Amino acid sequence: MPLPFKHLTSSLQLTPEVAESIFKVARKMEKIMERNKRVHLLKDKVVALLFYEASSRTMLSFQAAAQRLGAGMIMAQGKDMSSMQKGETIEDTIRMVQSYSDLIVMRHPEAGSAARGASVSAVPFINGGDGGNEHPTQSMLDLYTLHKELGRLSNLHVAFACDPLHSRTIRSLALILSQYPGNRFTFVGPESLKPGPALLQVLEERRVPYDITTDLRAGTNADVLYMNRLQEERFEDHAEFERLRNAYVLTPDMLTGKKTLIMDPLPRIDEIAEEVDRMPNAAYFREARNGVPIRMALLAMMLGKA
Ligand code: NCD
Repeated sequence: MPLPFKHLTSSLQLTPEVAESIFKVARKMEKIMERNKRVHLLKDKVVALLFYEASSRTMLSFQAAAQRLGAGMIMAQGKDMSSMQKGETIEDTIRMVQSYSDLIVMRHPEAGSAARGASVSAVPFINGGDGGNEHPTQSMLDLYTLHKELGRLSNLHVAFACDPLHSRTIRSLALILSQYPGNRFTFVGPESLKPGPALLQVLEERRVPYDITTDLRAGTNADVLYMNRLQEERFEDHAEFERLRNAYVLTPDMLTGKKTLIMDPLPRIDEIAEEVDRMPNAAYFREARNGVPIRMALLAMMLGKA
């Protein structure tokens, strides 16, 4: 099935049908990866990676995905090293980069920057994270991980911690999962970091039951506990971040006798004790690995080559 969109800026575009079609391609891509192979599917394509905000996994897994599919790549990294530093707009940057490449991936610290980039892009545009707004390719790999680990995407109790206000990965995953029947959510975090009204409005419209708590132990009783670090760079008051930074740490004793699947988009900072890594239900490094086949699938499909 061809994708019903040219640009991917929001998880709201990722319906269950679209997700299923991406999964199908990703499973094939995983086979290529497992055989440690590179193929030539995108050998006549150039992918542009514009990363104006810090990234490890998203950037490296897009690079690995493009490499495994044989695409050429051009790359801009860091706002300071680009003409954005001189005051160039996002729109002008995209107008230029689209003439150098066949697909653009952009990460940018401003919420809404992806919609702005996509609105002027003649080539497919992928949001690699726009400020505190969204991160749809992460939510796609999170969904893929959930399906692989638990065998279902519906009738799940999913807890999200520790910064529902600022975390774009929590927002994007909650938006996707809100479309599947029988799911319910628990948002865990300090009082000042409750999920914002825009997300809650979507959940209410879709009649997804949710509760909000400050108690991390409530999250350990869910089917899935999706942890994400406090988003330090998005706090208006840094002293507030310092005050909260050690308030939520998941430790093995909190998980004794429980099968809760532990996910985290990473990087892990303080939110999960390293001892948790050894538990079989700690899925975060498997989750990071799933970024490659999912991004291979998205590149191939958005370039019309799947
Ligand atoms: C996340 C992000 O950039 O939002 N990282 C990622 O892409 N895997 C999570 C985070 O930075 O906390």
